Amino acid sequence: MLDLIVRNAVLPDGRDAITIGCENGRIVSLGREAGAEARRVIDAGGCLVSPPFVDAHFHMDSTLTYGRPRVNRSGTLLEGIELWGELKPSLTHEEIRERALELCRWAVARGTLAIRSHVDVCDPSLRAVKALLEVRELIKAEIDLQLVAFPQDGFLRSPVGETGLTKALDLGVDVVGGIPHFERTMADGAASVERLCRIAADRGLLVDMHCDETDDPHSRNVEVLARETIRHGLQGRVVGSHLTAMHSMDNYYVSKLIPLMHEAAMTAVANPLINITLQGRHDTYPKRRGMTRIKELLADGVNVACGHDCVMDPWYPLGSHDMLDVAHMGLHVGHMTGDAEMRAMFDCVTINAARALHLDGYGLQPGCWADVVVLQADSPVDALRLRPARLAVIRRGRVIAETSRAVPTVQLAGKTTQITFHIKQSSPPSRSAPGAGTAATAPEDPEGWKRRTRGAVSAPERSEEQ
Ligand code: FE2
Repeated sequence: MLDLIVRNAVLPDGRDAITIGCENGRIVSLGREAGAEARRVIDAGGCLVSPPFVDAHFHMDSTLTYGRPRVNRSGTLLEGIELWGELKPSLTHEEIRERALELCRWAVARGTLAIRSHVDVCDPSLRAVKALLEVRELIKAEIDLQLVAFPQDGFLRSPVGETGLTKALDLGVDVVGGIPHFERTMADGAASVERLCRIAADRGLLVDMHCDETDDPHSRNVEVLARETIRHGLQGRVVGSHLTAMHSMDNYYVSKLIPLMHEAAMTAVANPLINITLQGRHDTYPKRRGMTRIKELLADGVNVACGHDCVMDPWYPLGSHDMLDVAHMGLHVGHMTGDAEMRAMFDCVTINAARALHLDGYGLQPGCWADVVVLQADSPVDALRLRPARLAVIRRGRVIAETSRAVPTVQLAGKTTQITFHIKQSSPPSRSAPGAGTAATAPEDPEGWKRRTRGAVSAPERSEEQ
């Protein structure tokens, strides 16, 4: 007798009618054999069952503070940093903890079970660090929370940047952070990257730096980060976050930079919701959009993940911590509308982000943790289109969040109809062939998609859409 079975699941790679068996917190079987019995059975009803969402970049210490002590009137990154500086002295351990726990409830409801959060270390009391270390422990049964020692005011520029970062790592913060573009000069930025990579190498830690989060086409910190990654043997262990300057860089320079990032086996983390609003603020028209080059990075084999970055804080007034919102925005801003490209965006908030965080036991194979999300959608692209209810969120074989299926009833033209926002067609456009690999390797057939969709849309009459 197993602990849990999820029946009639569609997997992200398109395999359908799948039964997932879970025991002792792990997936023990996955296939079309539905014979085993379990203490609890969930019928996914042909819905998508995915590994959980992973937020590769977040700021949990500032989340849910929107409007305190005032709103960001200019909407700029720099006013946000200024505002955060005004707010910091008034924060307490308890209220940081409670805000973080509330955000974690939102994350679980959305099916996000791993979060990498930067935490500001430029506070001599390290109040936020201590509060989030407590949160990491409190939520470990539900969420993998990784903390990054983030010198918000500059590792070299802030008088407490270096000591704060060192103490935070001594207290158990997981990852070495940085913000080289906020140092006083480009030379100081490069020096901070060199020092921080040395610290990571000496301590055996991962690296995740805010890097080139600017519209300056000459910002060059990411190439230094790639060089230091190689020099210290940190390949596969380093993330460059934001990287918005890449949007503005000269194409020839980028044609040299991306292969260097690939050589360093770096992950690029884009934060589409935030950078579409923060970047380009000095422009008139045309306005640059500021998101890093997701399409080109993926095409050259660089691991790309996405982060939510902010929810209702000095930098961003919106959000409910939904990684499908993030991928949806990234898809639009990055022109990622090809079929395989859309599926690649789903990977950016699942498997690619898990790779960036070095998560252990992540995935949908026997032996992996029994962590899955049942979505009211029939494929990853359908999930991106609808951003639907997470019907069940399962952690270590235990259901930790449930949401009812949403089926609106509509009265129109004398008929009452229940709709599901689906069109009738012979096969969903986004589903890859059963047994196909990841989105990056799945076949793309945009013309076939158009043919099928046109045919379905022109159907003469429907009383109920499926
Ligand atoms: Fe950030």
